[in-house]
Amino acid sequence: MLELKNVRYTYPGTDQPILKNLNFEVADKRIGLIGANGSGKTTLFHLLIGLLNPDEGELLLHGQPVTTKETLRALRKEVGFLFQSSDDQLFSPTVIEDVAFGPLNLGFPPEEAREIAVKTLHNLGLTGFEERITHRLSGGEKKLVALATILSMQPKILLLDEPTNNLDPKTRSRLIDILKGLDQHQIIISHDWDFLSHTTTILYEIAHGHIHRCEEDHVHVHRHVHKAGDHPHHHQHSS
Ligand SMILES: Nc1ncnc2c1ncn2[C@@H]1O[C@H](COP(=O)(O)OP(=O)(O)OP(=O)(O)O)[C@@H](O)[C@H]1O
Ligand SMILES: [Mg+2]
Repeated sequence: MLELKNVRYTYPGTDQPILKNLNFEVADKRIGLIGANGSGKTTLFHLLIGLLNPDEGELLLHGQPVTTKETLRALRKEVGFLFQSSDDQLFSPTVIEDVAFGPLNLGFPPEEAREIAVKTLHNLGLTGFEERITHRLSGGEKKLVALATILSMQPKILLLDEPTNNLDPKTRSRLIDILKGLDQHQIIISHDWDFLSHTTTILYEIAHGHIHRCEEDHVHVHRHVHKAGDHPHHHQHSS
């Protein structure tokens, strides 16, 4: 449904492309995206949402190139993007205004937009946050409210850029339950392997400007006990 075809992208003022010969299709329901810091994961999301335009190649939605304002609007309606930094996402004075903003923008009347926002907050366990001042929320609270601003628009695809940043173990595991309960396609960038093992079934890695599917890495859940308790941690797979 959403696809990048033969894409190359170079940041202005730099001479090396960050991504080259990139082919990527959102075909599977739960995709994990890994890669070293600076490998181009966030850049890939920016290309998928049309925030950046490729030097070469194209972005397709349902097989149609996204080139005009109208096709870009259609794309933004279908794809919800959770920014790596919540401060880039939240801009209204109160939580309810931020979460109602999307539905208002989609044309819902104010009363209905508010109802959708209240319901979305409720589904995320954020009832009571409606009148809170957005910029005074904690990092983890901001992350969940940012997720609410996206879900209130009922997108078909969710792009989540490091959603577990700033989350304590309890909130992180609540997020796992929330994401598992959603029906949308999800692509999740994370360095949190254990989180990906719970939320995704297929893994892609970006390295040296290329993306490849990790055929040999099977994302799976395993249970065990650590001295450090239930804090998020990584597992390196050697084969
Ligand atoms: N506007 C910009 N101009 C020039 N270079 C940029 C710009 N934005 C990002 N870059 C560079 O592009 C590379 C890829 O950045 P990107 O944010 O996509 O990495 P990432 O894989 O998301 O990393 P991280 O895991 O740290 O979030 C980095 O080296 C970064 O410094
Ligand atoms: Mg990033």
